[in-house]
Amino acid sequence: MKKVSELFDSRSKKYNDIYTDAHSKKLLHQEKKVRAETVKELVINYLPPINNGIVVDVGCGMGNVLLNLRESGLKAEMYGVDISKEMIRLANSSLNEVGYENINFTIGSIEDIKVSANLVLSLGVAGYHHKQAEFLAGLSSLVDTNGYLIFSTANGDSFLRLTRRYLSKIHSYITGKKKVEFSSIKDKHVESLLTNNGFRAQKKIYITFGLGLFASSIECSIDRWFFKNFRNSFISKYLSLTVLYVYKRVD
Ligand SMILES: C[S@@+](CC[C@H](N)C(=O)[O-])C[C@H]1O[C@@H](n2cnc3c(N)ncnc32)[C@H](O)[C@@H]1O
Repeated sequence: MKKVSELFDSRSKKYNDIYTDAHSKKLLHQEKKVRAETVKELVINYLPPINNGIVVDVGCGMGNVLLNLRESGLKAEMYGVDISKEMIRLANSSLNEVGYENINFTIGSIEDIKVSANLVLSLGVAGYHHKQAEFLAGLSSLVDTNGYLIFSTANGDSFLRLTRRYLSKIHSYITGKKKVEFSSIKDKHVESLLTNNGFRAQKKIYITFGLGLFASSIECSIDRWFFKNFRNSFISKYLSLTVLYVYKRVD
């Protein structure tokens, strides 16, 4: 995981721009904003209220998802962990600026969370783990009975994801630049793992339609159109780059 934490220590310098640049032409920047907005919408309007509960964000980055949830009125106790010390520094600096109470951002991962949560979030993180099943099982172990788990994965059923992977490999080969790998996972693996761990699927939302290999406002517009019309459609299982899952612990 050292490579991943180093990658995000260096990316942290630009990470804030992703969320503040309203006119970004980069598909993967748009993905992060859509993901954060969708999660906010789910937590505030879809899940039962968790104001007296605990929310944990594993791989919280610069903490914007938890901070946005607090800004939207969620009063739960919140914990964000991330293996990148620079991301946590940014998260704490944003927290100090707004002065919210009962939010903790610390360097660490799943094993550092000592509470049982009513809601566990993990967005854009699972793909950095070669053993994704182990990582997802770790996330699910943090969720209290009747609690929720919301996470995203790189869509292993999508031909666009497959195409992106091959083009990216060719690019690395030509330029000689080695990238940190981001693995995908098929829906049936996610489903069987979570079901075996006592969870039931509540929602599946498909996001990010395109290849995202270079900046393009046309690609971003097409993505917005697909997201509006096809985010819940089964066809998107084979098209979207990313899947956002909502599971409930029922055992
Ligand atoms: C793509 S960023 C997403 C950040 C944030 N979730 C968001 O949506 O803006 C992935 C983050 O996960 C962190 N990360 C990766 N593996 C992790 C792990 N096992 N435990 C904690 N953080 C992890 C990285 O350091 C990075 O900050």
